[in-house]
Amino acid sequence: MSSDTARPRAAVVGLGARARLFTQALAGPYADRFELAGFCDVNPHRMAVHNTWLAEHHPGRTPVPTYLAEDFDEMLRRERIDLVVVCSVDRTHDHYIVRALEAGCDVVTEKPMTTDADKARRILDAQRRTGRDVRVAFNYRYNPVHSAVRELVASGEIGEVGSVHFEWLLDLRHGADYFRRWHRDKVNSGGLMVHKATHHFDLVNWWLGTRPESVYAQGGLFFYGDEAGRRRGLARDYHRAHGSPAAGSDPFAVHLADSPLLSALYLNAEAHDGYHRDQNVFAPGVTIEDDMAVLVRYATGATLTYHLTAYSPWEGYRIAFNGSAGRLELLVEESTWTRPRMPTNGSDPVLHGAEADDTAGRTELLLRRFWEKPREIEVATGEGGHGGGDVRMLQDLFGTRAPDPLHRAADATDGARSLVTGLAANHSFETGLPVRTGDLLEF
Ligand SMILES: NC(=O)c1ccc[n+]([C@@H]2O[C@H](COP(=O)([O-])OP(=O)(O)OC[C@H]3O[C@@H](n4cnc5c(N)ncnc54)[C@H](O)[C@@H]3O)[C@@H](O)[C@H]2O)c1
Repeated sequence: MSSDTARPRAAVVGLGARARLFTQALAGPYADRFELAGFCDVNPHRMAVHNTWLAEHHPGRTPVPTYLAEDFDEMLRRERIDLVVVCSVDRTHDHYIVRALEAGCDVVTEKPMTTDADKARRILDAQRRTGRDVRVAFNYRYNPVHSAVRELVASGEIGEVGSVHFEWLLDLRHGADYFRRWHRDKVNSGGLMVHKATHHFDLVNWWLGTRPESVYAQGGLFFYGDEAGRRRGLARDYHRAHGSPAAGSDPFAVHLADSPLLSALYLNAEAHDGYHRDQNVFAPGVTIEDDMAVLVRYATGATLTYHLTAYSPWEGYRIAFNGSAGRLELLVEESTWTRPRMPTNGSDPVLHGAEADDTAGRTELLLRRFWEKPREIEVATGEGGHGGGDVRMLQDLFGTRAPDPLHRAADATDGARSLVTGLAANHSFETGLPVRTGDLLEF
């Protein structure tokens, strides 16, 4: 930690959409605790956009110094960085986490912590070697309804948990978004078993207080991609929507020019890196799955049956815990239906989770103890992104840390424990066989 300033100095790597949560927090409510002192990205335009946003919210503020990716180490040195927040493309997380730890910094990384077992081992080794902190931004742990589930399970209300049944649906807006940009290539994201399900596998590890031991999975590309799109007559003939007449009638197209936010962050930044945020979900090149079924066995003996679908008419999840004294059921409808095209009123057409969806429906947590009438558990829904999880997580990451009986702070081991279920599922997709997680990653 630098000695000549009272406030630790923070840098953010990867100045895309998600980074905004962190840049605004560090320059806003947590500015008295941290100095936002560096931006690093392959794309100078996106860093400039974040500086413009900061200036809009904080007139007179000096722009944050910007560094290109190859100058990351120099940024750490020159700006005397103490904390690095990693929000770049998933496949690059390990590089920045390890370099930052070796330079003596603490790290907050977006999920997934990384995308394969070798990278996870490098992170775990670097963390142990340096003794610095790695926090994984599992914001779903901070959603009040998920905290209530943890409390109920830990309190023994349903006894010992024998099994969990968990279905997560991504709607045609949010689910499709993973097929429009870098996530569609498994090398970048690890596929949805890693990129998306890492949240869900982490929740189950945390709720049950255990770790996965074996995984069997089946998954495939059922709906998106060129072959399925052609077969069902859904595919239009274009590569990316912007400037393509064929995209005009495609309900799956995202039109960057309709949104000031997406134009600023992506369309106007393309000259620097050719990143197209609006690719055709039915164009060739998709190497990830959109329909995945997973069976996990945990160290406690509990099992999980999990299903992730990325082409659903509504978005949300159903979870049931079967216990030796009863059953706990959760239903969350994050969106009840999907609009074919977002209004062109400047609202964001695709970015998910920044705020509650205006098509959101019920949240219902039901406790069904043996021999008793079902009891609905009232939970105050949180304001802000991800059911209020984002705001609470920021407080835990950057605010005064209070003792947390729920143990919501996730470290590198939690990141690896969640990752390994997804990696094992990916492996099982390929081989058709069950996978022992210890054969992939020991922790
Ligand atoms: N916890 C959540 O709810 C949540 C939500 C959204 C995104 N995320 C995570 O945040 C991260 C960013 O996602 P996003 O939606 O903002 O994506 P994005 O595409 O908007 O931003 C990614 C940024 O990384 C930059 N980048 C690419 N290669 C780089 C490199 N080699 N070095 C440095 N920067 C590089 C890009 O230029 C871009 O600015 C991902 O890891 C994603 O999983 C988490």
